[in-house]
Amino acid sequence: MQYEKLFSPIKMRGVAFPNRIMRTSMVSGLATEDGLVTDLLKERYRREAKGGAGSIVVEAAVILASRSSFNLRISDDSFIGGLKALVDAIREANPEPKVGLQIMHFLKISRSGWRQKVEDFKPEELPVIVEQHAKASRRAVAAGFDFIELHMAHAYTLASFLSKINKRTDRYGGRLENRLRLPIEVYRAVRGAVGETFPVGIRINGEDFTVEGNTLFQSTRIARRFARLGADFISVSAGSRFEDALPPAPNMPPDPMSGYSGHRMSPWWWFPDMAHAYLTDGIRKYVRDGGYDAPLVTVGKIRTARQAEQILSEGKADMIGLCRALLCDPDWPVKAKEGREKDIVQCTACNWCLEADSRFEKVTCSRWPEGAMVAPEPFLPDMARPSELPEDATL
Ligand SMILES: Cc1cc2nc3c(=O)[nH]c(=O)nc-3n(C[C@H](O)[C@H](O)[C@H](O)COP(=O)(O)O)c2cc1C
Repeated sequence: MQYEKLFSPIKMRGVAFPNRIMRTSMVSGLATEDGLVTDLLKERYRREAKGGAGSIVVEAAVILASRSSFNLRISDDSFIGGLKALVDAIREANPEPKVGLQIMHFLKISRSGWRQKVEDFKPEELPVIVEQHAKASRRAVAAGFDFIELHMAHAYTLASFLSKINKRTDRYGGRLENRLRLPIEVYRAVRGAVGETFPVGIRINGEDFTVEGNTLFQSTRIARRFARLGADFISVSAGSRFEDALPPAPNMPPDPMSGYSGHRMSPWWWFPDMAHAYLTDGIRKYVRDGGYDAPLVTVGKIRTARQAEQILSEGKADMIGLCRALLCDPDWPVKAKEGREKDIVQCTACNWCLEADSRFEKVTCSRWPEGAMVAPEPFLPDMARPSELPEDATL
């Protein structure tokens, strides 16, 4: 087989992931306004499961009771049934991929332009955040997920505690050791809640890409600390912070995607391919030098199986995250494995999907036929909507 490393299995706490392709978390806008699983959401994941990715991280599920329209929720036990039906539906479509759930605590924003900051939390509110993560992870286990990813990247609560922009003056802010405290408490509580045999990974920013934000220097230290604690994988994302966001349009909340930091999360077509591989490479080296073997997941405009195999062969990462590429063509993995790469419908990194998410609309792909809500099955290049962007942009 051509892409031996990409299609080799990997184990985490005894759980076998059939290959190195991880479909990273992607908010779909397909949950109900109250955060419940819908048939369309199930259909989206069922379609993706059939395409051969070794693991799927189901989109960020909110763990706190505050309103967050169209985001999945896992903030009380009433959500377990819907999430279980989702996992069952995915498994019925294809029992092979491991199915994880990303759990997320967010900082509130409002249409007035106000946004909550980590400095706003009173000390007595922090144990509540820890407890919310622990309870949500128990629910994820009850719903039948194979693993959990703790969201510590982008503009969310734990990322904001980790970031250098955290200026709290108590034990939870300021120097790195303090900024790590809440995320570590969360990790430990989640580990306690799910037990020793259940994989728990984290997602962090390799770099915040904002003034005063974390750089690779901080993220290497953060990653090594979580590797030491036993995190089962470390997924490296980037950017998507509010600090350099543009002023929002009237009556719209601030948009973390609007500044340069936002542009780094899902690199646009004009970014080089494999845009974050160097971050994962730096982090992986530092984690390995510390003597830890936690797998590193890289992501960011990885377009071809050849690129993915190269990253793995050069030891820059242990797993390949694909997000938009699999939204566009869920069969990317199976087509690559079977040597049918010419049949892959290429994501052009146009960020139509991301812009829909920023408008709180349902996320779709610009290459799908008009009106489609999931990728056609089968989906071949001659069925795709033409793209005005270059399909073959490389370094
Ligand atoms: C519409 C959309 C929604 C996303 N939602 C999430 C999310 O819920 N959690 C997360 O960690 N990353 C999220 N991401 C980031 C992706 O997981 C991924 O890191 C990013 O798109 C870069 O990978 P890619 O080039 O393969 O798309 C989202 C990206 C897009 C385009």
